[in-house]
Amino acid sequence: MTTEAVAFPQNRTCPYHPPAAYDPLRDERPLSRVTLWDGREVWVVTGHEAARTLLADRRLSTDSTRHDFPLPTERAASVRRRRRAALLGWDDPEHNAQRRMLIPSFSLKRTEGMRPRIQATVDRLLDAMEAAGPSAELVSAFALPVPSIVICDLLGVPYEDHEFFEEQSRRLLRGPTAADTEDALARLEEYLGGLLDGKRAEPGEGVLDDLLARQRQDGRPDREELVQLATILLVAGHETTANMISLGMYTLLRHPERLTELRDAPELIPTAVEELLRFLSIADGMLRVAREDVEIGGVVVRAGDGVVFSTSLINRDGEVYADPDTLDWARPARHHVAFGFGVHQCLGQNLARAELEIALGTLLRRLPGLRLAKPAEEIPFTPGDTIQGMLELPVTW
Ligand code: HEM
Repeated sequence: MTTEAVAFPQNRTCPYHPPAAYDPLRDERPLSRVTLWDGREVWVVTGHEAARTLLADRRLSTDSTRHDFPLPTERAASVRRRRRAALLGWDDPEHNAQRRMLIPSFSLKRTEGMRPRIQATVDRLLDAMEAAGPSAELVSAFALPVPSIVICDLLGVPYEDHEFFEEQSRRLLRGPTAADTEDALARLEEYLGGLLDGKRAEPGEGVLDDLLARQRQDGRPDREELVQLATILLVAGHETTANMISLGMYTLLRHPERLTELRDAPELIPTAVEELLRFLSIADGMLRVAREDVEIGGVVVRAGDGVVFSTSLINRDGEVYADPDTLDWARPARHHVAFGFGVHQCLGQNLARAELEIALGTLLRRLPGLRLAKPAEEIPFTPGDTIQGMLELPVTW
């Protein structure tokens, strides 16, 4: 172990590689120590096997209201200590009760059935882009609207309100100050509370309406729980996938040989999506606190210790993925932890996969000449304390 703990999280130097400053952690797999913004030292998990073991261990908690829960930024600390997110902020049995209400809406069968509508949305957005072309800013014209429209459709949220909720989600995830983050969350909850009240009076169609029907029948989820569920579904449902589309496309454009392989063999798209999920690890930092002592990889994580999971390093564990820093469609990328692992594993993963396959596949097919409209180094990407992605992506074709 090194004597001085590396700071966590840090900004990436290249949008698709883990921060270079994490390099010392690679030599210390499967666990080492990092320092958070408040000076606290916590465990960082970097080994693939250890990560899956620990993420499946109920002795690790996701209850962010615990005083000893590790929080990656001052902004996150101010919000999460007072109020925990639905699902992600709860341990079982509460977590399980919430999750069970939603599983049917996000099943593979349900999301497979959404493919034709996702395809129609993607085609419509590309029609508009082509008509206004031959250049575009891909985040606002495509990467963000695709998942935003899809999640609105699924939940029963009016897409006309997208500018409002997209802005609040952005402020929530990367607003400059704690006050900004809190204000964004309050606004989102107020908006969704109002929307749900309207639906109570005049039911529509969607997951939120299904949850209201359940509420009428057996009282659960109550109003507050329902607002919190709606908030996490709306935010997680569009921000992450939008970033995966933009960063995925940027990464492909920076790897022309891989891009050509995909254009020549579009049947590789699902495999490529899996490998991109592993390679990009856009949700880079899952958080837990140990409720009891847990022995792992020759060390004892003590009760009360904070544990962070560096998704990007776990997904580049050389013991599991040969030549892990290269993008390779031939490797079996399955078993990556880009969607987490264990009981909190991403609820929306089937939906995200369908969206990514359709969005990236159609973009490559319809715009074979797609390329960056600016030198790659000049294109800004998000800082490291949150979900990774491109802030803008100027392209031409
Ligand atoms: C490529 C896109 C996505 C990525 C990379 C991603 C990543 C993740 C990860 C890593 C977790 C686990 C966090 C942890 O254990 O601490 C998670 C949980 C979650 N995700 Fe996603 N996600 C994506 C898309 C979506 C979509 C489209 C939805 C749709 C609503 C969604 C909803 C959720 C929810 C509700 C949870 C919490 C589940 C629970 O606690 O039981 N995600 N996601």
